[in-house]
Amino acid sequence: MFRPSNGAYRSVAVLALAAAVIVSPTTAAQSAINLYTTREPGLVQPLLDSFSKTTGIKVNSIFLRDGLAERVAAEGQRSPADVLMTVDIAVLIDLVEKGLTQPLSSPVMEGAIPSNLRGAKGEWFALSLRARVFYTQPSLNLTAMTYEQLADPKWAKKLCTRPGQHPYNNALIAHYIARHGEARAEAWLQGLKQALARPAAGGDRDGARDIVGGICDVAIGNSYYVGLMRSGSGGADQKKWGDSVKVILPTFEGGGTHVNISGAAIARHAPNRAAAQRLLEYLVTDEAQRLYAEANFEFPVKTGAAVHPLIKALGPLTVDRTPIAEIARHRITASRLVDKVGLDR
Ligand SMILES: [Fe+2]
Repeated sequence: MFRPSNGAYRSVAVLALAAAVIVSPTTAAQSAINLYTTREPGLVQPLLDSFSKTTGIKVNSIFLRDGLAERVAAEGQRSPADVLMTVDIAVLIDLVEKGLTQPLSSPVMEGAIPSNLRGAKGEWFALSLRARVFYTQPSLNLTAMTYEQLADPKWAKKLCTRPGQHPYNNALIAHYIARHGEARAEAWLQGLKQALARPAAGGDRDGARDIVGGICDVAIGNSYYVGLMRSGSGGADQKKWGDSVKVILPTFEGGGTHVNISGAAIARHAPNRAAAQRLLEYLVTDEAQRLYAEANFEFPVKTGAAVHPLIKALGPLTVDRTPIAEIARHRITASRLVDKVGLDR
């Protein structure tokens, strides 16, 4: 029977050590990824913890309130960012246009996310949706409305909204241009200006407050604020505002509802691309979609994933089929039209 000498044992040990030294950098690289996010840490941390538990991949998240694109661009090829996560059509498309993301071909992502809500080459993916809805005075008993109808003279001096230049309204106006062209969008904005009950100012929840205060009959606001108000998480006053308005999911004529998105992309120079892909694919599982959307009362992007009861109660959401990238193309024109019409003056 062969018994290795002590020297042979030593050689094996040395070889094993050398192998460990060579292998460990790769193993370490695959067991941690870097996420740059503009989303509040409290919203995403439970998901990241659950991802790490399932996969053994640690996620270092770097929270950046502003300047995500600038930071990644400045870091260039040496950027440690693997996944970029952010909110708003314009911000996400800006990352793509600046060449800070890379394409991802993934049947998992393509199966979970409708084609109008992701980049054609997988350069970005929507993860959750917020609908731009109408809060209305309940005594009007409105059940359905279109965005186009808001410019009708019957709403003169009855509308409350935040500024037209705010990203939420900019995206809605850009969507209007995508569907109807610039000339009709300008006429629509003139109609909205006539409809204003007060200057276009404040936030979306102020619209609900002002309906309760008898200042306006209809206000433009994001769907998730309804959840924030009605859940009571913003305090008793906001709960009263939320409970005192009737919410309508408007649609474009012959189309669906305007949504804005939160989303993510793989960074152009991601050092850990395979693990980054695993995180994105995890984020579209049914369970992650539920947790991610519920954290801020949003709609999951994946059809069939559970919706928070307060948001489900708003009724079924039919997302307009205009591609998000097409909407983003009109955001500069939208901003110019708001100035031209003087909506915010
Ligand atoms: Fe908001």
